[in-house]
This record gives sequence, C-alpha cells and structure tokens, in this order.
Amino acid sequence: MTVKNICCLGAGYVGGPTCCIIAQQCPEIKVTVVDKSADRIAAWNSEDLPIYEPGLMEVVSQCRGRNLVFSTDIEAAIRSADLIFICVNTPTKTFGMGQGKAADLKFVELAARMIAETAEEGSGLKIVVEKSTVPVRAAESIGNILRHNIKPGVSYQILSNPEFLAEGSAVEDLLSPDRVLIGGEETDAGRSAISALADVYLNWVPKDRIITMNTWSSELSKLAANAFLAQRISSINSMSAVCEATGADVSEVAEAIGRDTRIGPKFLKASVGFGGSCFQKDILNLVYISECLNLPEVAEYWSQVVSFNTFQRSRFSRRIIECLFNTVTDKKICILGFAFKKNTGDTRESAAIYISRHLMEEGANLSIYDPKVSKGQVRIDLEDSENPERFDKLVSCHLDPYTAASEAHAVVICTEWDEFLTLDYKRMYESMRKPAFLFDGRKMLDHEQLGKIGFHVETIGRRLNRRNIERTWN
Ligand code: NAI
Repeated sequence: MTVKNICCLGAGYVGGPTCCIIAQQCPEIKVTVVDKSADRIAAWNSEDLPIYEPGLMEVVSQCRGRNLVFSTDIEAAIRSADLIFICVNTPTKTFGMGQGKAADLKFVELAARMIAETAEEGSGLKIVVEKSTVPVRAAESIGNILRHNIKPGVSYQILSNPEFLAEGSAVEDLLSPDRVLIGGEETDAGRSAISALADVYLNWVPKDRIITMNTWSSELSKLAANAFLAQRISSINSMSAVCEATGADVSEVAEAIGRDTRIGPKFLKASVGFGGSCFQKDILNLVYISECLNLPEVAEYWSQVVSFNTFQRSRFSRRIIECLFNTVTDKKICILGFAFKKNTGDTRESAAIYISRHLMEEGANLSIYDPKVSKGQVRIDLEDSENPERFDKLVSCHLDPYTAASEAHAVVICTEWDEFLTLDYKRMYESMRKPAFLFDGRKMLDHEQLGKIGFHVETIGRRLNRRNIERTWN
C-alpha cells in the first residue's frame, strides 16, 4: 500500500511540526491536520502560528495550501485518509484511579471512537498510528475500540510511532532524526502497514535510521527514552548540590565525566530542574505502570528522578529567599525567562512557574520578561483561581528585560534564552536596588564579570560566595 492521504488528529507541539515536515518532504502526499480547537487551527492558518519553533514558519509557508491543510473538519479528514496519526494530548490524570501518575487516555480513546464512527463502509484499510506518548499496550485498547465498532469493508492496522522531537529544535529533529521507531503487529498485515509508514519516512530519513519492532517495545521505548534523559538531568543536578556544598564546580565535573565515551557529554548541564510537558508526565506514567505490574522497586527507582527535580527547584527558590535576608515580602524580583527552555513559548511544567509561585507565597512582587511567553499565559500559570486579584497585585509582565529589572532587588534567570547572554548587565545593575542579586538558574552567564559590576551572584553547582562554605563532615 502507498500512503496518499494523511490525517493528523491534534495540531499541537507534535502534530503540527511533524505534519509540516511530512508535507514538505512528501509533496505527493496530502496532509490534513485537524484539531477540535478552532482557535488553534485558525492560528495555524495565520502568520502567527500557535507554537513558536525556529524555522517552522518557513516550512508552513512553503506547504500550506499546496499539500498541507489545517482544518476543523475532523470527520472529512478521517474519511479521506488512508493513514491517521493520533497526536492528541495524554496528560497526567488529575482524578480517580492512578490520579497524579497514570496517563489520561481519554483523548486517545475519543480519537479512536471518532475514527471508528467516521470511517465509511467499504473504505478499506486505514492505518492508525499512535504518535502520542502512551502506556505500554495502549495500542491494544485502540485496536479493541476500532474492531468492536467496525463497519463492513473497513479494516485497521494499529502502529506505534512515538515522536522523539524536542521542543525548540523540532524542525531540525524531524528533518534528521536519530531514529524513527515503528512498532506493529508481527503478522503479514502488520508488517505491510509498518512498511507503508516506513515508506513515508524514507522520503527523507535514511533507511538505517528507521527501526521496526513489536508494538509494546515501541511504546515502552518512548517512556524509557524520556526516563533516561530526565534521569541524567537529575543525576547532574544532584551533583550540583554536592558542588555547592564543597567548592567543586559542576561544569568541571560534567566535563570530566562527559569525556568518558561510555557516558558522553550531552545532557549534563546542571540547572534549576527539568520542565516541559513530557519528562515528569512520562516518568510518572512509567512509575504507575510498574506499580500496576507489582514492581514496586522499579516504581520507586524512577519516582526518585521526579522527586529530585522537585527538590532542585525548591532548593533554588529557598536559596533566593535566604540570600535576600530571609524575606522577599514586598521586594521586587525580576524573573528572566518563563518558558521551560529556550526557543519555545511552551511553559508547561516550567521551573519558572514553581519558583514564581514559591516567591509569591512569600509575598514577593514579580516582574517577568520572556521573549516568547505572553502575559495571558503567565496569568494562566500563576493565577490562583480562589484569589485572582493576587496575581494583578503581585505580578507584572514586561516587553523588555531592563524595565523588568528596574528597581528590583534581584534578577533570577529561569530560561537559558541566548539573548540573556548579551544583555547590558551594567545598565541593569545601575537601575536595581542595592545590594543587587543575580541568581543564575541556568549557569549561563559570566559570573566573574557580573561580580565586577557589583552583583552578588548565586548559581547552580558552583559556590561563588562565602555563604555556606564551612561544612562539618563529622
Ligand atoms: P498539545 O496539547 O500541544 O496538542 C494536542 C492537541 O490535540 C490539542 O490541540 C487538542 O485540542 C487536540 N485534540 C485532543 N483531542 C482531540 C481530538 N479528539 N480530535 C482532534 N484534536 C484533538 O500536545 P503535544 O505537546 O503536541 O503532545 C501530544 C502527544 O505527543 C502527547 O502524548 C505527548 O506526550 C507527546 N509528545 C510530546 C512532545 C512535546 O515535546 N510536546 C514530544 C514527543 C511526544
């Protein structure tokens, strides 16, 4: 089978960019991206895309209206598709069984039901591809729903094709992925569906980077990859705490261990903690699965990676308060960066949210600057629904970093935006209250230089001041 018509359910951070690249690389395939959110689709059809990704607008301009369509007509898109990507959100459950850990599969289930109801009699084989990150054996549930609602002359093959793109470098990651994973049934029909999807990727991905395997391995590999990546961050962050207490420098330790080819240098940057919509959610999902499989030791092992991340964030915000003479009440604190990482406007699980909330609880006034995060988003993330006026009282958002820092007692770097490297910190220092503090949660600035300007600098994984130096070991 040759895929000619692709439909993607979910026009978010995964569905949108993935389908843009497929449309760009496969001009003979018609790609329709649909979403139940009319606002999101309207934004994809505008010059102001709903997500910020470097290079994405260029790809959209090239393909939109040619073989790439963004639409709210979900049924029409499903009917005409021979391959359907499910790219809907799979957030952590907030209620009921598995609350706070298990992935909420209601959107995936709804998508499967919609496909079953909409597919027309006699429309033949439809390949349904699970791209959302799901628990192991979720494909079985999708298959069950589809097969129990099957219409005459329709058949389904379910594939697992998890997405490994990272926000902020999605275009690059999609254009040259380390690997593309396709899991499917170990039958002739399964193998033929795998090969139809592989043919789509073969338009631009070298054959040796396309890995095929059984469905359950593919589903688990995505959870495992995120767990391993997050584990590395928690591991280096745990070393950062030891460095701060001893006088070692975590960047030097990272370089030393990263030179070991068995360890490698990537993902060894200590910071205020990992964020984003995936790492925590996927590890908690893995923890829940392990508990359900009666593997409490496995669950405990992975849950430490998340617990440590929570500790790292609160350790940093406690340090801010301690340094500011143990009180931040009514003090202006400038937060530079609100997105969970640079080159994205996504704030889901951003460390900045946790730090801001902690400081707000202590009565601090926050002035926030992020080049890609709107005030509306900051409000969603920080407003307390039971006390909404508190947000307006304590938080202001700024369009430039200098007004945000003016009159502030401290500047806190939460996101590693490149533009923060070249700010005029002398100008900033002069407009601030003294002593002026700078907390570099990304370990990205020239601390010596900042010290010369007059800042009291604190950072992650390196002791710059005499505070907390003397430690007793016995
Ligand atoms: P998102 O929340 O940005 O987008 C999901 C979209 O699906 C939303 O726009 C929502 O309105 C839409 N949707 C939900 N149900 C629908 C339905 N029945 N029909 C049509 N549209 C529907 O989520 P995001 O970040 O794109 O993630 C999607 C999946 O991909 C998740 O499972 C996530 O874990 C996974 N993933 C995310 C990555 C990321 O960096 N954001 C990377 C790799 C995987």
